Amino acid sequence: MDKILVTGGLGFIGSHTVVELQNEGYEVVIIDDLSNSSEKVLDGIVAITGKKPVFEKLDLKEKDKVEAFFAKHSDVKGVIHFAASKAVGESVNEPLKYYENNIGTLVYILKELRKLPSAGFIFSSSCTVYGQADELPITENAPVKQAESPYGNTKQIGEEIIKDTCKVSPNLKAIALRYFNPVGAHESVEIGELPIGVPQNLVPFITQTAIGLRDELSVFGEDYPTPDGTCIRDYIHVVDLAKAHVIALKRLLEGKNKSSYETFNLGTGTGSSVLEVIKSFEKVSGEKLNYKIVGRREGDIISAYADTDKANNELGWKTELSLDDAMRSAWKWECKVRGK
Ligand SMILES: NC(=O)c1ccc[n+]([C@@H]2O[C@H](COP(=O)([O-])OP(=O)(O)OC[C@H]3O[C@@H](n4cnc5c(N)ncnc54)[C@H](O)[C@@H]3O)[C@@H](O)[C@H]2O)c1
Repeated sequence: MDKILVTGGLGFIGSHTVVELQNEGYEVVIIDDLSNSSEKVLDGIVAITGKKPVFEKLDLKEKDKVEAFFAKHSDVKGVIHFAASKAVGESVNEPLKYYENNIGTLVYILKELRKLPSAGFIFSSSCTVYGQADELPITENAPVKQAESPYGNTKQIGEEIIKDTCKVSPNLKAIALRYFNPVGAHESVEIGELPIGVPQNLVPFITQTAIGLRDELSVFGEDYPTPDGTCIRDYIHVVDLAKAHVIALKRLLEGKNKSSYETFNLGTGTGSSVLEVIKSFEKVSGEKLNYKIVGRREGDIISAYADTDKANNELGWKTELSLDDAMRSAWKWECKVRGK
C-alpha cells in the first residue's frame, strides 16, 4: 500500500486521520515536533489500529531536515499537511511565528514534492478564509475575505502558494480542505483533543469547565441576529473529518481529481448556536454546565455553516456522526484524561 506522510500526525485532527489511513491499509509516516502534542498519542493510535506508524520527531522549520526526510522517504506518494500553529489570538501578537511555521514549512515541503515523480498533497485549510460570508450556507465559490488574523491569513496565503505551485508542477495534485469546527474524539477515547493551556475552542472549554478545571464558561453575546442570539457554527465530528482526508487522498492517488488544485468544504451543513452546543453537552453528559452570558467578543463572526453539496457529490463523502455523538465522545475523553 502507498506510503503517506502525515505532518502534525500526533495532533488532534492528524492522529484521527492516521487511524483512518491505517484502517484503510496505508503505510503511514508521521512527522511532528511535539510542539502541541505528545509522543503518547502513538500509544492511542496503536491501541485502536494495532499498528505503530513510523514516527520522525522533526521540526519542519528546519529545511535541511525536511530535505533529508524526503531523501530517505523518496517513495512517499502523498502528504497530508496538518502541522501548523493554530491559536488565532497568539497569531495577532506573534505574526512572524505564524508566517514562519505555517508558510515556511509549507514551502519547504512543496519544494521536495516537486522533485518526486508524482505526489498528492492535502492541505488543512479553514472556513476562516470566508470571514463573515454574505450568503449562508457557504459554498466553495464564496469569496475569500480579508483575513481577520495572521493565522487566517496563513491559510489564505497557503492556498495561493499551493495553487500557484500546482500550475507549474505536472507531477503535483493538491486539495485544500476547508474545515468548519472540528470537535469530539475517537469513540474508543484512545485519542482526542489535548489543548495546552486555556482552550481556544468552545467544546474543550465546555468539557474542562464541567470537569472542574475552569470555573465557568463565558458565552460571548446573546444579541446577535440568530434565533437564540448566540453565534452559530458548523461543528463537525473529528472522525468524519478524518475520513474525508482519506477519501480526498484516494481521489488524488487514483487520478479522479478534476483539476490539479481543488477546494472542498468539510462541515455538516447544519449550524448550531453556542446555547445549542451547551444543551447537547448537558443532555449527553447529564452534567449541568456553569456558564454566563457576557458581552460580545470583538472579531467574532455571527454565523458560519457549510454548503456540503460539493463534498457530498464530487468527493463522495458525507458526515455520519451528530453533534450529540461529538459531545458524548468529547466528554468521555475529558473524563478519561482527568482520570474520572
Ligand atoms: N482544530 C481546528 O479547529 C482547526 C480548524 C481549521 C483548520 N485547522 C487546521 O488543521 C490543522 C491541524 O489542526 P489540529 O487542531 O489538529 O492542531 P494540533 O495543534 O492538534 O496539531 C498540529 C500538530 O502539528 C505539530 N506541529 C506544529 N508545528 C510543527 C512543525 N514546525 N514541525 C513539525 N510538527 C509541527 C504540533 O506538534 C501538533 O501535533 C492545522 O493546520 C490547523 O490550522 C484546525
